[in-house]
Amino acid sequence: MNDRDESEGRSDDGKGGEESAHELRISKIRNGTVIDHIAGGHAPDVLAILGIDSATDEVVSVGMNVPSDRLGYKDVVKIEGRELSQDEVEVISLVAPAASINIIREYDVIEKNRVERPASVEGVLSCPNRNCITTADEPVATRFEVLDDGVRCLYCGTIIRRRLTDHIDV
Ligand code: CTP
Ligand code: ZN
Repeated sequence: MNDRDESEGRSDDGKGGEESAHELRISKIRNGTVIDHIAGGHAPDVLAILGIDSATDEVVSVGMNVPSDRLGYKDVVKIEGRELSQDEVEVISLVAPAASINIIREYDVIEKNRVERPASVEGVLSCPNRNCITTADEPVATRFEVLDDGVRCLYCGTIIRRRLTDHIDV
């Protein structure tokens, strides 16, 4: 492990840059996943996508509105002992397009990936239109086209712009 840089970032100018080596805001984790560079305020959306709520027994650290060189302010979510599924990462990309997913093993970052916004998502969101074929008795997997500011059901055209996390079906 790199013991020179214990911090979230390297800025040490005391003017609201990322943390210095002297003030680690959230502990490093040993094994698991760090979702970093979530736009400020969106950590709760990421937690909702991952199904982490008041009933969870997972070990989770959340930082909100942490100063960041790149984003101004960012949120960070650290989950011990868990790797994310492809579906989970896809939906995270919709609410946190600048996020990076870091996989941690024995304190080292062994993999770092920026999320990619897919052109469409399949089977991870449910359509709010009760008359949509995807909500009928016969199961048809949902498909949504990803727009700049939301998603559109490819079956009925319904657009979801707000509260995407209310429609997660992972
Ligand atoms: N991290 C952690 N536990 C570890 C290792 C890293 O919680 N054992 C966190 C760091 O705090 C950081 C993220 O994982 O939020 C990525 O770590 P690292 O790549 O070391 O940091 P940076 O170089 O600042 O990442 P980036 O270039 O993506 O900003
Ligand atoms: Zn629909």
